[in-house]
Order: sequence, then structure tokens, then C-alpha cells
Amino acid sequence: MSKKIMILPGDGIGPEIVEQAVAVLKVADEKFGLNLEFTEGLIGGASIDAHGEPLTDAELKNAGECDAVLLGAVGGPKWDTLDRAIRPEKGLLKIRSGLGLYANLRPAILYPQLAEASSLKPEVVSGLDILIVRELTGGIYFGEPRGIKTLENGEKQGYNTYVYKESEIERIARTAFEAAQKRGGKLCSVDKANVLDVTVLWREVLDRLAPEYPDVELSHMYVDNAAMQLVRAPKQFDVMVTGNMFGDILSDAAAMLTGSIGMLPSASMNESGFGLYEPCHGSAPDIAGQGVANPLATILSAAMMLRYSLDMGEAAAAIEAAVSKVLDQGLRTADIYTEGSKKVSTAEMGAAVVAAF
Ligand code: NAD
Ligand code: IPM
Ligand code: MN
Repeated sequence: MSKKIMILPGDGIGPEIVEQAVAVLKVADEKFGLNLEFTEGLIGGASIDAHGEPLTDAELKNAGECDAVLLGAVGGPKWDTLDRAIRPEKGLLKIRSGLGLYANLRPAILYPQLAEASSLKPEVVSGLDILIVRELTGGIYFGEPRGIKTLENGEKQGYNTYVYKESEIERIARTAFEAAQKRGGKLCSVDKANVLDVTVLWREVLDRLAPEYPDVELSHMYVDNAAMQLVRAPKQFDVMVTGNMFGDILSDAAAMLTGSIGMLPSASMNESGFGLYEPCHGSAPDIAGQGVANPLATILSAAMMLRYSLDMGEAAAAIEAAVSKVLDQGLRTADIYTEGSKKVSTAEMGAAVVAAF
């Protein structure tokens, strides 16, 4: 039976990088007989232009009926001045929330070939392999009430609400504990329990669950310290688990340890293993249309899709091996370019991964 993959290219560099990831999936399909079937949809600014909203209910339903979703990125200056309710980013939040994709896995792995591309010293990052587990459908991103109101004195006030229910904390904590069991056995929970009540509860739930995972060493860290430790000595971490907003910020910081934000893939999954796969970076309006974006985060997200949602681990490993081979060949997009390597375009990088199969 074929596996149906919904492709949502989105905006900016989205279509450029997704094109390369689809080419790689097609060659994996040929080599391994995966029987993949592709269907394409609209999200973000592309959907606003076509339908006046960043994700239609019909498209959300289509995506949910597929076996997995591969997404590029959304957003851009063209839509930045629109009403908050219909901005491109709302489409992304709608698909995450609508499909219940609460578990966001963001692996920050340094390919040894890129040690020089990191902004940190090679000895600080060499061998780096961290997994950030970010809660994706709750927290301050979705808490109510939210908005901008006018106070009695005429001044405006913006507000959001940072909320987590025990059940929401428990399910993401279990994802993280289980991931730690399969990896190095260390879990660091990141919170702001010295200030925010919601994260006092977060910490309590993690502590309550810890005895169920005796093979995992649980620690807690405040988010400000965690940001510092990530750039001071990132290899102290194995799995990190945190809420929606802290995870957003820490994963961009972790990306730089791997050489570039263009190297960080992600999986966003629900309880039944259905997933949406996308690079951690955005639509990069500053380089969109120039053919210079790094497609590897998207290609590696496609590999995660094969592994986590489609049970095609062998093909996933082959994609990762092909990426490594291309880096061995010295091919680099501009973001990971270092002296002595060969600078290539988005399309050349994608073609090289296809050829390395
Ligand atoms: P961004 O991640 O798009 O770009 C930040 C910087 O990283 C830019 O200099 C960009 O050129 C560079 N960069 C990003 N991806 C790259 C790649 N693959 N190769 C080479 N360089 C890359 O973040 P931003 O500039 O803050 O946001 C731009 C737009 O993207 C905004 O509208 C934002 O809301 C949106 N965004 C979307 C997503 C998503 O769809 N998942 C994620 C983050 C930001
Ligand atoms: C990400 C992005 C999104 C987020 C935005 C575009 C809604 O930054 O996927 O990291 O904050 O989750
Ligand atoms: Mn982000």
C-alpha cells in the first residue's frame, strides 16, 4: 500500500528547500521501493494569497488524512502587516494544534565535517548530539486570554497567558523520558520555576514521573542558565525538555552549535505517531529566491519522517549517510561555507545528496 505524503512548501525559501527534499525522497523511493505518493497543499502566505487565510479547514483535513506532512517554512514581509488573526504563522500554529502535534523533537547533531563552521571552538562542539524536546501545542503560544486592549487611560496593553495543565506536562515529559532511555539516559528539564508558577508545576510533574524511569537521570535547570550552558559546554546535555516558547528559543541557539540553522531538522508528533516534519528555521526572506538556502535541514527532516512516521528506518539512514557523504566531498551552501570547501547552490546541494545515494 502506498504512503501518502502531504507537501506544504509555504513561503520564502520554503519552496526552494522542499523541492530538494522531495527529490531526495523520490530517489529513496526508487532505491528502497517505499511506494510514496505525494500531494501538495498551501499554507502560510501562499494560502493567504489564494484563499485569504493561512490554512483552510479543508487543507488541514487533507493533511490529517495523509500518512505524514513535510513542510518548508511560512511567513515574510509581504504578510507582516496583516491582521494578527490571519498572519502566515497562524497557519503553522493551526496545523500543529489541529493535528495534536504536541511533541516537537529537535535534534542538534554536529556533523564532524562541519566543526569549523560552528561559531564555537571545534573542541566545544565536536561530537555534539543533543535532542531538544519542545512542547508544541500549549504554553504561552496558546494560552487564553490573549490580545491587545485599551486601558481606561487610553494606553494600550498587550497580554498573553502562560498556562500548562498537568496532563500536557505529563505527556511531553513521558516523550522526553522515553527518548532519554533510548539515548544517553540523561534528561534536563528547563524551566523558570524561580519566578513562574506554571513552571513550578512543570517541575513537580517531572519529579513525580522520575521514579518510573529509574534508568534516566533527571536534572532541572533555569532557562537563562540553560541558554548560557548551551554555548558554554553544550556536550553536558543529552535530552532537554521544555515548554513551547523556551524550546523555540533554545533550539535556535542549539542550531548554531551544528554550524547553521540550516542544519536543524524537526519532527512534530501526536499520540499515534503521526507527524509533521519541517526544518527549525524560517522562510529566510533575506535570501529567498536567490537559490542559496541550505536544504539539508529539510532533507534531514524528510529522513526523520521516514523513520518516525513511516517505519522506513533503512531509507532514513541512507539519506543521512548521503548527507554525510556530500559533506565529505566538501560541498557547502553559503551558511556553512568555510575556506577550502566548495560553495554550492540549494539545487546543487540537493542534486549532490541525490547523487550520493
Ligand atoms: P529565519 O529562520 O527565517 O532566518 C534567520 C536567519 O537565518 C536569516 O539570516 C536567514 O537567511 C538564515 N537562514 C534561515 N534558514 C536558512 C537556510 N536554510 N539556509 C541558510 N540560511 C538560513 O528567521 P526570521 O528571519 O526571524 O524569520 C523570517 C520569517 O520566517 C518570519 O516571517 C518568521 O515568522 C518565519 N518563521 C517561520 C518558521 C517556520 O515556518 N517554521 C520558523 C521561524 C520563523
Ligand atoms: C518555529 C517557528 C514558529 C514557532 C513560528 C513561525 C510560529 O519559530 O517553528 O520554530 O515559534 O514555533
Ligand atoms: Mn523558531
